[in-house]
Amino acid sequence: MEPRNKQQLLNVEELTTGYAEIVAFREVNISVQHGEMVAIIGANGAGKTSLLRTITGVLRPKKGKIKFDGREIHNLPAYQIVQMGISWVQEGRAIFKRVTIEENLKVGAYHRDKKGMLSDMEITFERFPILKNRRSQLAGTLSGGEQQMLAIARALMSRPRLILLDEPSLGLAPLIVQDIYGIVSDLQSDGITILLVEQNASIALKTADRAYVMETGRIVMEGMTRDLMTDPRVQEAYLGGQR
Ligand SMILES: Nc1ncnc2c1ncn2[C@@H]1O[C@H](COP(=O)(O)OP(=O)(O)OP(=O)(O)O)[C@@H](O)[C@H]1O
Ligand SMILES: [Mg+2]
Repeated sequence: MEPRNKQQLLNVEELTTGYAEIVAFREVNISVQHGEMVAIIGANGAGKTSLLRTITGVLRPKKGKIKFDGREIHNLPAYQIVQMGISWVQEGRAIFKRVTIEENLKVGAYHRDKKGMLSDMEITFERFPILKNRRSQLAGTLSGGEQQMLAIARALMSRPRLILLDEPSLGLAPLIVQDIYGIVSDLQSDGITILLVEQNASIALKTADRAYVMETGRIVMEGMTRDLMTDPRVQEAYLGGQR
């Protein structure tokens, strides 16, 4: 499939922002087509999380635009961006550890009516049987991988069209990382568009369709993942020189 021919769902244009005088990233251009899985890879401090914060309305751009489904969203409040269909799974999961799994899922659907929310919860439990068996358990008692599943499940409760994933592999054993990325691929098969950021370039490039490379606040390379994987510069800097 040639994504260039598909319709764009997310457009980030010439986006620049930072914290006080610190520049987090500058002049970033990114697009994500309907149904696509796009990865942004980059080292510590490259600006990946700041970019997701800006898309979700938590951090404001200093320059540039963000369009979702053709509408400018960069001046909208965060809750409205969620309602439009963008859901964010934060770095380090950010689940509520002292409340139950069920309560965590309800938070993800806070702007929805109760009936729709409860039926979605059952659908979510079908997708994540591990969570169903433990629905009344405190979230903090789940393993790291299960907590990542819960964070993804919670993001699904707002019925997103676009999911933003921040380092879903962080701190997880390789086999669990495979499981999580299996789930992410299933979401894409179900028609959800995905933008993920990762330091784990290997898994991100294996799973996504297209990727951008971010270095110290700038996009320095982009392309189809199958091409980036074999690019000597990417191999050297992000794949430990492996083939
Ligand atoms: N709250 C903040 N206040 C000031 N500077 C910040 C803040 N958050 C991030 N930064 C700075 O912005 C830059 C980009 O950070 P960001 O967290 O976006 O990077 P990242 O690519 O997500 O890194 P990592 O892979 O370590 O999560 C860094 O220089 C960082 O120090
Ligand atoms: Mg980060």
